[in-house]
Amino acid sequence: MPKLRKAVFPAAGLGTRFLPATKVMPKEMLALVDKPLIQYVVEEAVDSGIENVVIVTGRGKQALEDHFDISFELAQTLAERGKESVLKELNKVHNLAQFSYVRQKQALGLGHAVLVARDLVGDEPFAVMLPDDIVDAEEPCLKQMMAVYEKYQAPVIAVTQIDGPEISRFGVIAHEKIDEQTYKITDMVEKPPYQQAPSNMAIIGRYILTPDLFPILEQTGKGTGGEIQLTDAMKKLLAVRPFYACKFKGKRHDAGDKLGFLIATIEFALKRKEFSEDLRGYLKSLKL
Ligand code: UTP
Repeated sequence: MPKLRKAVFPAAGLGTRFLPATKVMPKEMLALVDKPLIQYVVEEAVDSGIENVVIVTGRGKQALEDHFDISFELAQTLAERGKESVLKELNKVHNLAQFSYVRQKQALGLGHAVLVARDLVGDEPFAVMLPDDIVDAEEPCLKQMMAVYEKYQAPVIAVTQIDGPEISRFGVIAHEKIDEQTYKITDMVEKPPYQQAPSNMAIIGRYILTPDLFPILEQTGKGTGGEIQLTDAMKKLLAVRPFYACKFKGKRHDAGDKLGFLIATIEFALKRKEFSEDLRGYLKSLKL
């Protein structure tokens, strides 16, 4: 199997769970402390060895392209004011990777968003990374998955354990356990009712996929919620090739959900040296 070089970031969704904040601002640009969600995930990709970043955008998502571009006036002003360290941070952003963009004209679902990236991906394996799934991990989540991909030479998806009825909000796998972190997938189902979930292993927004998924996606009709589901296409691919799951070490935050975003904000803020002590003190003072 060739080396994984490209990652697709579907960012064309409407962000309805986060209205009205996302009426004109892309959900993917919401900031955890001071960094947009999508930048955290692009950094995870780059730290895992990804060189080409493909972002799937749509109407009202211009800010995403601008964020990863050079901001000439801003850079010049910072240089004139001698703000070298801020300038250095700013320059890191557009130098992270090679960026390409493609538009999904209608938000027809995650599977459809991946399909519109087909020409930019070409005939090679690729990662799909959802910008509102933030994984806080010592070793980047995608890098942990790559180790499984390299060992088994097969597609890999990231899973996390979800106990209780909340599992029905996820894609869920049926599996054979290989070791504590690795599973061979035997089936997958999108958002099953709690009682019918085949396991407590939920699919999160990190995938390593092979280009033979594209012709299948093309044939995949609307599924759960009237959207073209990535899980439905992966399930068909599972019938013709082995598929693995990586139970990554780390904590996943659903930052596309208001409560998930608030929790992630507090956790990331508490990790920041410059205000962790003050914030901790403030939270304690609330005597909840
Ligand atoms: P979500 O379901 O979390 O995002 O999809 P959404 O549809 O924007 O949000 P809600 O549910 O209405 O609040 C996960 C990722 O897939 C992208 C989204 O932008 C998000 O980053 N996506 C989803 C697309 O690019 N196209 C789609 O048609 C659907």
